Amino acid sequence: MTRPAVFVARRIPTGVVDLLRQACEVDVHDGPADLPRDTLFARLAGKAGLLSVLTTRVDRDLLAAAPDLRVVANIAVGHDNIDLAAAAERGVVVTNTPDVLTEAVADLTYALVLAATRRVVEGDRLVRAGGWRGWSLDFMLGMELRGKLLGIVGLGRIGRAVAARAPGFGLQVAFADVGDRDGRDGPGSDGAVAPVPAWQRLSFDELLHASDIVTVHVPLTPATRHLVDQRALARMKRSAYLVNTSRGPVVDEAALAWALREHLIAGAALDVYEREPQVHPDLLGLDNVVLAPHLGSATRETRTAMAELAARNVLAVLDGRPPLTPVTQT
Ligand code: DGY
Repeated sequence: MTRPAVFVARRIPTGVVDLLRQACEVDVHDGPADLPRDTLFARLAGKAGLLSVLTTRVDRDLLAAAPDLRVVANIAVGHDNIDLAAAAERGVVVTNTPDVLTEAVADLTYALVLAATRRVVEGDRLVRAGGWRGWSLDFMLGMELRGKLLGIVGLGRIGRAVAARAPGFGLQVAFADVGDRDGRDGPGSDGAVAPVPAWQRLSFDELLHASDIVTVHVPLTPATRHLVDQRALARMKRSAYLVNTSRGPVVDEAALAWALREHLIAGAALDVYEREPQVHPDLLGLDNVVLAPHLGSATRETRTAMAELAARNVLAVLDGRPPLTPVTQT
């Protein structure tokens, strides 16, 4: 019996390749960047499975170039890089990697909250540039977290994990479920902690108005594109900070640069961008924004778990079993 062939779009841990090899022929693109589309399409010929990453655009053209494809396992919880309707039309199962990255992204969110509010990166730059003249009482003051309001936009798995960490910092929690722009990076019935009474539910506008830190945890959909725009930024407190670890296009970068430049908000920290790896040039020159290179899930433990979950999804589907973590079209 011939074994199904699988293509892996980026380097993954060798243990996970070995897992796939137990049942499949495996072709791994081992390079650090995406393959050119025509090369990718050629490598996909005859493949029944694809392990994609968030930069692999799985659209109609790709699906047409890979008519034998039965499963696309995205190594990410987000799946805005995949045309779900086109996949469904061809009967291609799509899966993602929820749960395994929740804690890593929640941790990184706090790394960014602290970096922005305590000016860590700005301070690092100053020290390296030889600009530090020594300790003084009013030098590089930031904002304390205790007693402040953390406004969480989107209370999915990651939003909840962010909320769960808040008491450790003495933060109060408010959240906004933005209608059909709800922050579920996974279904509600996932065993994640439900909102606790101490978490205040607000409308999106109320949350913008009241929060000292606004942190965004919604998936990218047509409804959440530029959710944080000029209008939203103008509603925030001048002393507030914006953090985005979800998807870049949820925040209008040009509007954010404007708000930061005009000091309409105190600062921001971004892990994701509208046109990765490019960053809006107006942001690059600003001191009051921390710019991280999409590190949300980037721990050894989590990236290994993501790749393994994607592999197990492929193995399940190619073996005729239900996928572990399917993405369903809403
Ligand atoms: C995801 O899984 O969607 C993350 O952005 C990957 O780091």
